[in-house]
Amino acid sequence: MLSARTAVAAVLAAAAFARAATTENLNLGSKLPAELFDPLVAKKVLAMAQSSFSPPAYPSITSTSGVWQWGSPDNWITGFFPSTLYQLAKRECLCPGSTAVDGAVPDWLELGRTWSGAIPSLHWHNGQGHDVGFISWPFAEELGLFPKNQTARDNIIEFALELSSRYAKEVGCTRSWDWSSSTSPTPATDFLVIIDNLMNLETLLQAYDFTKNKTFYDVAIDHADTTLKNHFRDDWGSWHVVNYDHLTGEVKEKYTQQGYSDDSTWTRGEAWGLHGYSKLYQYTKKPRYLDAARNIAKYYLRRTPKAYLPWDFDAPKEPMPPADASAAMIAAAGFQLLAQIEKSQWNLIGAAQWDNAAHMLISQTASYAWNPSWQSVLSNSTRDNHGIPHSNNTGLPYADYYWVKNGNYLLASGQLRCPNGKRASASRCGIDLTGPTF
Ligand SMILES: *[C@@H]1O[C@H](CO)[C@@H](O)[C@H](O)[C@H]1NC(C)=O
Ligand SMILES: *[C@@H]1O[C@H](CO)[C@@H](O)[C@H](O)[C@H]1NC(C)=O
Ligand SMILES: *[C@@H]1O[C@H](CO)[C@@H](O)[C@H](O)[C@H]1NC(C)=O
Ligand SMILES: *[C@@H]1O[C@H](CO)[C@@H](O)[C@H](O)[C@H]1NC(C)=O
Repeated sequence: MLSARTAVAAVLAAAAFARAATTENLNLGSKLPAELFDPLVAKKVLAMAQSSFSPPAYPSITSTSGVWQWGSPDNWITGFFPSTLYQLAKRECLCPGSTAVDGAVPDWLELGRTWSGAIPSLHWHNGQGHDVGFISWPFAEELGLFPKNQTARDNIIEFALELSSRYAKEVGCTRSWDWSSSTSPTPATDFLVIIDNLMNLETLLQAYDFTKNKTFYDVAIDHADTTLKNHFRDDWGSWHVVNYDHLTGEVKEKYTQQGYSDDSTWTRGEAWGLHGYSKLYQYTKKPRYLDAARNIAKYYLRRTPKAYLPWDFDAPKEPMPPADASAAMIAAAGFQLLAQIEKSQWNLIGAAQWDNAAHMLISQTASYAWNPSWQSVLSNSTRDNHGIPHSNNTGLPYADYYWVKNGNYLLASGQLRCPNGKRASASRCGIDLTGPTF
């Protein structure tokens, strides 16, 4: 039970926060970029959805002049475009009329379902390793709107079964990539786990919710704990790849595949960590995941430069390191999730800090990556500036997805009003703001 003193302190803090929030709300319009809700967002997404490439080809990356390249659905990014369509369905529900293109509101839900069409055939027949979690996201989006849709549930369960078949109890993780490290002395026992894999655990936790099969839950927790132990440095920067011996579970190597160097912190990897542990906490309520998310958040905030987010926190300043707008948007969404968690625990000062961090990343990104002439919503993402050939200054489907999603979070949490000045109504859409499906 709260002591009287704690209760009074909480009420005072809440009042102070409410005042701060109101003042802030007044200038949010000027602090947050109008591009979040620019009609071009819906227009570009609709143009993609109506392109002649319609499924089974999916947008994977743009050229450095902003033209989408389309590829096979057997790709880890396949779920992001349909998920963006679902996010626009949510936007339309939050703010009716706000997603109109040339005067008419597209049927985003129908488009999202159509563009999910190629995904079920990937069950057990894909080359994506652990990324089957990412691939299943459009079904989670469907459930965000229609929680009882059994088809969507079944799809998630199938991908979760596939992901858990990649678990090795000796290691305590699901295997990310099937190949071996190029520098390992004993490649036959290599078991590669990348920090990105934290994002796939949500699929296991959803499958656990649907089936109550505890194995899904245990696999997710073991993977999250092993990653917590081995992927982070003392300062909470992270390694991209940890190579385990699959027979003994021993750590053989820690290195980077997409970041600047083995000792550097790749900004997208760190963003997956922030988002990943925030989600893990939402599903499991285990305090160690909240601690991890807060520590990663502090690291992110401390190391993000004023001007823009580079693709790696430790990339040399000369030549000017390319930005990664996708990392910025994933991190901003992670900050918003964490703020939501803090609010649910009455840590309003913490919540304000993380919300401000999200606002900062969103404003920063708009200042350099809002590019009306490109087909993608955002430019200036870096897929990989380590592997050859480099791919920097491109558009990426996950950057666009999180751009839209961040806007929706701001609306649904009441930090922003709809473009027409009305308050967004999350309850009307059946969107649960406090739960992990938000
Ligand atoms: C359930 O979701 C799937 C997409 O996951 C969709 O194709 C289907 O129409 C939905 N079913 C119902 C009854 O809404
Ligand atoms: C529970 O899930 C595991 C994989 O996580 C699977 O191997 C097992 O068959 C499932 N059990 C049941 C009863 O479905
Ligand atoms: C964004 O990309 C353009 C090229 O499309 C480049 O000239 C510019 O320097 C980039 N900005 C940042 C902050 O990386
Ligand atoms: C960006 O990518 C190009 C190849 O597309 C590469 O030549 C260049 O070195 C990269 N830029 C930086 C600063 O790493």
